[in-house]
Amino acid sequence: MSKKVLVVGGGGHAKVVIDILKGYDDCYEIIGFTSQTSDIENILGVPYLGDDSIIPNLQIANCFIVAIGNNKTRKNIFERLIRLGLEPINAISQSSYVSPNAHIGRGIVVVAGAVINPCSTIHDNVIINTLTGIDHDCVVGAHAHIAPGSSLAGGVKVGEGAFIGMKASVIPEKTIGEWSVVGSGAVVVSDIPSAVTVVGVPAKKILEQKDELK
Ligand SMILES: CC(C)(COP(=O)(O)OP(=O)(O)OC[C@H]1O[C@@H](n2cnc3c(N)ncnc32)[C@H](O)[C@@H]1OP(=O)(O)O)[C@@H](O)C(=O)NCCC(=O)NCCS
Repeated sequence: MSKKVLVVGGGGHAKVVIDILKGYDDCYEIIGFTSQTSDIENILGVPYLGDDSIIPNLQIANCFIVAIGNNKTRKNIFERLIRLGLEPINAISQSSYVSPNAHIGRGIVVVAGAVINPCSTIHDNVIINTLTGIDHDCVVGAHAHIAPGSSLAGGVKVGEGAFIGMKASVIPEKTIGEWSVVGSGAVVVSDIPSAVTVVGVPAKKILEQKDELK
């Protein structure tokens, strides 16, 4: 019997997630998507159901995936739906490579062209986006987002909720602190503390995060 999946989110990332789920044969039936802001009736033929307030009454769904790029929002919704007793599923593109010797959590999205190499751990609700490289022995904390084209060398640790911008690189064994942001194109050559934004080559701090972003 196929699982009945609710997709939460109605933006560009939701299109990507729905596209991946549709690539799985009969495994999932996508019942629809919810969104706080959507003005479209369907995404790739999947219907809009309403805003997130309807979720507790959606008896038909037994599992979900949060398809929202913002890490804080994705975390809050993920934790709320777990409390409601729904099961998170993964959306892993058939055009990605996830080593059978990697450790993968729940609610994860892995987009086309991404590679996750052996002995890496990807915690819950993470986005491993298009054409990213997560090399061996990395740890990516819950609710983080590794944006398109970025590369983590071996042994890199990314804290909970951190955001690694497009085409950024992190050299081996470095740590990115929780809820920090690495700008697009940055090269991280030293450990980055929690809750800061860094940019450039080599990456340097430009600001501390506001409290509400942590
Ligand atoms: C790093 C980032 C988050 C900063 O955003 P912000 O806080 O709004 O910062 P601003 O745009 O106000 O820029 C602040 C300064 O940093 C510089 N800067 C911003 N992003 C930079 C980057 N990626 N590399 C180098 N410098 C950058 C700006 O030029 C500006 O410099 P100035 O003060 O000398 O004028 C953003 O620029 C970025 O790189 N986002 C990544 C987007 C991405 O990868 N999205 C993926 C979607 S899937």
